[in-house]
Amino acid sequence: MKNDKTKTDKMNIYMPEHVGIIMDGNGRWAKKRGLPRPVGHTYGAKTFKDITRYISKQGVKILTLYAFSTENWKRPLEEVNAIMKIFRQYLHDALTDFREDDIKVKFIGDRSAFDEDMINLINETEEISEKRQGMLLNIAMNYGSRDEIVYAVKRLCADVRDNKLSVDDITHEEISARLYTSGLPDPDLIIRTGGEHRLSNFMLYQAAYSEFYSTDTLWPDFSHDDFDKAVMEYNKRNRRFGGV
Ligand code: IPE
Ligand code: IPE
Ligand code: MG
Repeated sequence: MKNDKTKTDKMNIYMPEHVGIIMDGNGRWAKKRGLPRPVGHTYGAKTFKDITRYISKQGVKILTLYAFSTENWKRPLEEVNAIMKIFRQYLHDALTDFREDDIKVKFIGDRSAFDEDMINLINETEEISEKRQGMLLNIAMNYGSRDEIVYAVKRLCADVRDNKLSVDDITHEEISARLYTSGLPDPDLIIRTGGEHRLSNFMLYQAAYSEFYSTDTLWPDFSHDDFDKAVMEYNKRNRRFGGV
């Protein structure tokens, strides 16, 4: 382990500073029970609330949860509509329950695709929670890392065109500063539930040296113990960042 991580008092465990979670497996969770896929999303929303509060108490500084990708619009309209309804629940949780935990909430992704009232709710949630001092929760909705990179490249090109930046001054930092995660450290640990071993367009640039942890547990079943296991595994990793 790198030694600059926060060492928690208990058990000599290093908490990752920034954790990303690809919350996958809601549909399969429902299917296994003979239920329609949207029911899996409803249960997934309960896990979203519970796990966010748990992680905030563990000393994690930033949590980024992947809730809906730019590719998820391909799903049947009925499922997409059910997910949009559940987002309103996320927003409600963010404003009410997360207040007690002092959790600050931000949204990453292209929010312009959502209905106007939802965009207003998103903006309002960010404004209201802005002054909170606890963990930062980034909710990735209509997020796609390829789109994020295209957006960053367009902004870089515009800055060069407007003589705000020269081509020779384009660095990793200048690119990072134009991503949705501008100003934040890269994720240390990325957890994917549901058993797949892929990023599915999540943080392609930021994940260069993230530790990846995949569990077969489906998102609605993801528990405090499952999170603890991921952190224990993270503590065994030797992060070399290309060194020796
Ligand atoms: C994750 O669960 C939630 C979203 C992608 C919106 P899925 O809905 O992808 O569940 P599976 O992978 O089909 O089981
Ligand atoms: C990734 O899950 C996106 C989210 C969890 C929001 P998907 O279910 O969309 O990913 P694939 O299709 O298995 O790659
Ligand atoms: Mg899936």
